[in-house]
Amino acid sequence: MKDPLLELALINAVQKPIQVSTVEFAKRLRTSPMTVSRRLKELEEGGLIARTLSGRSQAITITEKGSNVLKEQYLAYKSIFESKPVIELSGTIVSGLGEGRYYLSIRGYTKQFEERLGFTPYPGTLNVKLDEESAAARVRLNNLTPINIASFKTSNRTYGGIRCYRASIGGIDGAVIVPDRSHYKNDVIETVARVSIKQTLNTDNGDFIEVAIV
Ligand code: CDP
Repeated sequence: MKDPLLELALINAVQKPIQVSTVEFAKRLRTSPMTVSRRLKELEEGGLIARTLSGRSQAITITEKGSNVLKEQYLAYKSIFESKPVIELSGTIVSGLGEGRYYLSIRGYTKQFEERLGFTPYPGTLNVKLDEESAAARVRLNNLTPINIASFKTSNRTYGGIRCYRASIGGIDGAVIVPDRSHYKNDVIETVARVSIKQTLNTDNGDFIEVAIV
């Protein structure tokens, strides 16, 4: 049987009294008129609806209390369907081009990491080659608001911007970083942390690792 309070709201009983025939309403709720009568009586006794009976017909209005019950249910459903789905990526640790150590030693970058992420990154990036499913899930990063590291210039060159997403890398707090100019394909992500992830977790290239975006 369908929820009578919700069904009443769907036929507009929230704003104004609605004429309801028990027989018709029973069909709508896919139950018997007897059950409908009982449920309406319960709703009335609970103060969720108000009824005025005249002969065989009745006018029903959802009260403020009833309306609040519906709103509560609405918020509960909303939290289920709109809650931010966790992005969990997994793959194997791979070696990179050896550039991470160089870039993450440059003050123009480290200063911004300190300011925006709250830590000085260990000089290097830990690269993870994502498994198939994670490589597909990775595009969901684009739906999130990144922490931006701005591009900057020195006397001889320009350093590109980086998008960062806070993450837990094998349980270690850090971030996934996506350089504006990346050499890597979509199936490799670069991560940073305050500590050496390999040393802390005692892992190495080829080992499995999980990266959860937080
Ligand atoms: O040579 P590759 O590009 O892989 O590495 P890198 O960016 O120069 O980083 C130096 C080493 O530290 C690599 O073995 C990384 O996997 C590792 N690393 C780490 O264990 N934890 C970090 N937070 C960053 C890098």
